[in-house]
Amino acid sequence: MKNAGTIVIVVVVGFVAFFGFPFYYNIGKANEAPKLKFDTPAILEWEKVNGKKECVEPKEFMRGEHMQMLNQWRDSVVRNADRVYVNSQGRSFTMSFQNTCMNCHSNKKDFCDKCHNYLGVKPYCWGCHIAPKEKQS
Ligand code: HEC
Ligand code: HEC
Ligand code: HEC
Repeated sequence: MKNAGTIVIVVVVGFVAFFGFPFYYNIGKANEAPKLKFDTPAILEWEKVNGKKECVEPKEFMRGEHMQMLNQWRDSVVRNADRVYVNSQGRSFTMSFQNTCMNCHSNKKDFCDKCHNYLGVKPYCWGCHIAPKEKQS
């Protein structure tokens, strides 16, 4: 990374690659989007029971809103002691960063980090919340 200008361009290209699908295939090639893995033990177990791989909410929503969702979960638990999240399908989840999100996404390096590094985002959560032990590469 030579200068701040380059960083800005990389970040902008990242956003376009992820959120601007019309541009995705053209620009994405110069700056290959990361391949995310959804093959952790908890996700495979969920698939076995429910027939498909699913997140708490649909993928497109998660992609754009997971930061706000995590803030809402934290506020709900810390301020209101309410730990039950009912999703758009009427299914309940325990609002826990470590025991819910990171249980399924236990491959933090191949998932959260991969996307964040690509886009230059650095969440500061791991100083306090324990990162999952990587279960597989
Ligand atoms: C039951 C397992 C499970 C739980 C719990 C879970 N996820 Fe997911 N997550 C998945 C799966 C599977 C996908 C891919 C879904 C698909 O392909 O439709 C996914 C997709 C995502 C995506 C979008 C990835 C992309 O390709 O753009 C994000 C971001 C995400 N999850 C973050 C979270 C966060 C944050 C939490 C906690 C609030 C969470 N997940 C909880 C299984 C889970
Ligand atoms: C598909 C790409 C992608 C994946 C996968 C992803 N994130 Fe993110 N995440 C982002 C983007 C983009 C932002 C910045 C959004 C913004 O600044 O508005 C972000 C921001 C965040 C933030 C807020 C950080 C801040 O400083 O504002 C948190 C917390 C976060 N992500 C947690 C997670 C966790 C935990 C996972 C894995 C379970 C995850 N993310 C997976 C793309 C992703
Ligand atoms: C200074 C330490 C600290 C940092 C940094 C921090 N947290 Fe927390 N977080 C806590 C504490 C303490 C609680 C309360 C735990 C409880 O009551 O179960 C909490 C609770 C939560 C909860 C709800 C309870 C649970 O079990 O998950 C969520 C969700 C959460 N934090 C997400 C985040 C995210 C996302 C980040 C990064 C953007 C973050 N936190 C950064 C200390 C921290």
